Amino acid sequence: MSREEVFFDPGQVKSDVGERKSRSRLGVVVTGVIGGSLVALYAVATPFVSPALRKICLPFVPATTAQVENVLSVLRARSGSLVDIGSGDGRIVIAAAKQGFKASGFELNPWLVWYSRYKAWREGVHRSTSFYISDLWKVSFAQYSNVVIFGVPQMMEQLELKLASELPTTAKVVACRFPFPTWIPEQTAGEGIDTVWVYDAKTFKLATQHGMTRKTVQKCDDSPDSHI
Ligand SMILES: C[S@@+](CC[C@H](N)C(=O)[O-])C[C@H]1O[C@@H](n2cnc3c(N)ncnc32)[C@H](O)[C@@H]1O
Repeated sequence: MSREEVFFDPGQVKSDVGERKSRSRLGVVVTGVIGGSLVALYAVATPFVSPALRKICLPFVPATTAQVENVLSVLRARSGSLVDIGSGDGRIVIAAAKQGFKASGFELNPWLVWYSRYKAWREGVHRSTSFYISDLWKVSFAQYSNVVIFGVPQMMEQLELKLASELPTTAKVVACRFPFPTWIPEQTAGEGIDTVWVYDAKTFKLATQHGMTRKTVQKCDDSPDSHI
């Protein structure tokens, strides 16, 4: 028997090639699974992380149950259209729809909008709710007579100007957790982080037109003449 005959076994070679092929197939599958997972993680996480990178950071912090109840209680005597600006997972919109409002939510994060639509459908209010993937600064809220905002202090002054110029005089605005800096509220409800402030559009539009805001009112009160 020659040396080659001793060391060359065609069966062994075939099984080595097969093993190598199945190992490289496994490598492709593992790479695909890891790559796919990373892409999926990136796609899901980016809309939640990106608000932190914007000029005004407005992250997803859902309203507490007490906060939602306070919003509904101050709007109990109201009806018609309602909008939640930055609607998150849709909890305020859905609760308002259950109270009889035609309720809409504008939200930057598409995952939260898709989830809100699903939740509205599951809770039987999909006909009286709508959710839009939109930037709050790029849409008009002129058609809404009830407006809810759970914002952050850094955005409230700019939002005052936007809402004062867009809303009809019949509108009411409810701010959750953080009040508007210059408007004077007509009512508040709740306490601590669950506090909500209610503003009447007739009042704040008039005040904006006349340059009369909380700051100017306070200045007048503090001036020596005001105590005469
Ligand atoms: C504090 S959370 C309030 C969520 C909801 N309104 C609630 O009370 O449960 C603010 C929401 O605004 C969204 N948001 C941030 N920037 C936005 C923008 N420019 N336009 C629309 N929505 C925005 C965030 O993704 C987040 O879901």
